Amino acid sequence: MGVSSLSCFLFAFSLFVVVASGFYRNLPILPFDEGYAHLFGNDNLVVHKDGKSVHLSLDERTGSGFVSQDLYLHGFFSASIKLPADYTAGVVVAFYMSNGDIFQKNHDEIDFEFLGNIRGKDWRIQTNIYGNGSTSVGREERYNLWFDPADDFHQYSILWTDSKIIFYVDNVPIREVKRTASMGGDFPSKPMSLYATIWDGSDWATNGGKYRVNYKYAPYVTEFSNFILHGCAVDPIEQTSSKCDATESSKSVPTGISPSQRIKMDNFRRKHMTYSYCYDQIRYKVPPSECVINPLEAERLKVYDPVTFGGGRRHHGKRHHHSRATRSGEANSV
Ligand SMILES: *[C@@H]1O[C@H](CO)[C@@H](O)[C@H](O)[C@H]1NC(C)=O
Repeated sequence: MGVSSLSCFLFAFSLFVVVASGFYRNLPILPFDEGYAHLFGNDNLVVHKDGKSVHLSLDERTGSGFVSQDLYLHGFFSASIKLPADYTAGVVVAFYMSNGDIFQKNHDEIDFEFLGNIRGKDWRIQTNIYGNGSTSVGREERYNLWFDPADDFHQYSILWTDSKIIFYVDNVPIREVKRTASMGGDFPSKPMSLYATIWDGSDWATNGGKYRVNYKYAPYVTEFSNFILHGCAVDPIEQTSSKCDATESSKSVPTGISPSQRIKMDNFRRKHMTYSYCYDQIRYKVPPSECVINPLEAERLKVYDPVTFGGGRRHHGKRHHHSRATRSGEANSV
């Protein structure tokens, strides 16, 4: 075993520990300057004195963002985020992985996107993935939360292995994407960087562009801290790992989401999921092959939006004034 394959083995093992324990409190928290670098927006990115937290702002001049110094193939990536409060319609905060700057035609992506809202309505979260340029197949899901993400910091995490992707909010897994053979290249499989950005998504983010960013309320400020970049940093072309954050652990553990975490995930999805591409009968007459239809999720979404999720036929003779068709990728429910 060469040094790099040994370190990758240790790394893969440590990921199992992360997944199985469900907690990642023992992973090292990086100072901003050790893991990330400024991406855009000049002084709209401010590193706080402790060196461990930053804020990003959006004003009439520009948004802002940062990017990881390394590319990673698999790992556990996390940040605590506090979103802007009050009127935030049209504002998008994103925490995501991508290699779009290297692979322009066949990039991969794993996304958390936070979609602002009008006053009195909560932020919504969207998750999505692309693999090898699969931009014609959106795999979006959207959710509301059990807390106001503008009130305080909450931890948002992405676990990415060669067989699955899990999105977490605090310690609750909210979505698991299992790699299936039929997904082919659509499962993200090339090294990616981490990104965090805030930008003007007026045309798209809130009710399909109905509510735009209002700069009367600028600057919109979002804060990031508790950076965890627990992965194998690799050379994107050679695909060899140069350094691995392989925290060793003596605990032997099974793989995957624990039964108690799965119950939490199922409860979250039943209560808080407001959109899933797997159930969108307008976009996909036949759900993409990796979709596993859960009758409880289907039922909830149908009540929430019978036009998109109900197959057209309305029940109980009732009019659903609030529902509207969902076009591809549009984040349209307030
Ligand atoms: C990814 O895309 C490239 C170029 O479009 C193609 O040659 C390659 O076979 C694809 N890989 C997979 C795993 O589908």
